[in-house]
Amino acid sequence: MSLKNSDTAGSTQLESAVFSRRRLLNWFRVNRRDYPWRKSLSPYSVWVSEVMLQQTVVAAVVGHYRRWMERFPSIESLAGAEVEEVTRLWEGLGYYSRARNLHKAARIVVTDYRGRLPDDIVELRKLPGIGEYTAAAIMSLAFGKPYPVLDANVRRVMQRVLLIREWDKKAESRVRGSLAALIPQRKPGEFNEALME
Ligand code: ADE
Repeated sequence: MSLKNSDTAGSTQLESAVFSRRRLLNWFRVNRRDYPWRKSLSPYSVWVSEVMLQQTVVAAVVGHYRRWMERFPSIESLAGAEVEEVTRLWEGLGYYSRARNLHKAARIVVTDYRGRLPDDIVELRKLPGIGEYTAAAIMSLAFGKPYPVLDANVRRVMQRVLLIREWDKKAESRVRGSLAALIPQRKPGEFNEALME
């Protein structure tokens, strides 16, 4: 089976019986899990949830995410809190630098960006704690821009699709090239979430 991408160029070789973007998205629409952060997909909720999900299992994140959003429903409310309260809410998630960076970044967003996360990958990357993965997740899930994410799940899937045994620099650049060709212009965030899930 071969499916053509209608809105990306040069990706037809990647569309095969093993991987079809259409099948991936159909699967996701049926099996997509109902996480609390999927209710809004605002820049702030994507930011908080993706930072929590780094190095932490989903089950542990759900409760923390709910409590966090109740106490800090906005970037302004987070920026206005004391760091001690912020780290206390983080208890159980580990790697406290993530909480301290969220707090620090929230204060910068309030003073430099009028309380709104910038929809620009270069600006996002300047904020403490926002690396390549988190920036791409915010750009695609919240702002609808076609930035592929490459986390451990995506890497595993793409290694199988492309029959890559060893993970090295060359493999990574092949996978990044394939993702760039495959990610749709329309709903790129859905594509990223589907691959991760
Ligand atoms: N793992 C980390 N972020 C995720 C997301 N947005 N969807 C599915 N799995 C994830």
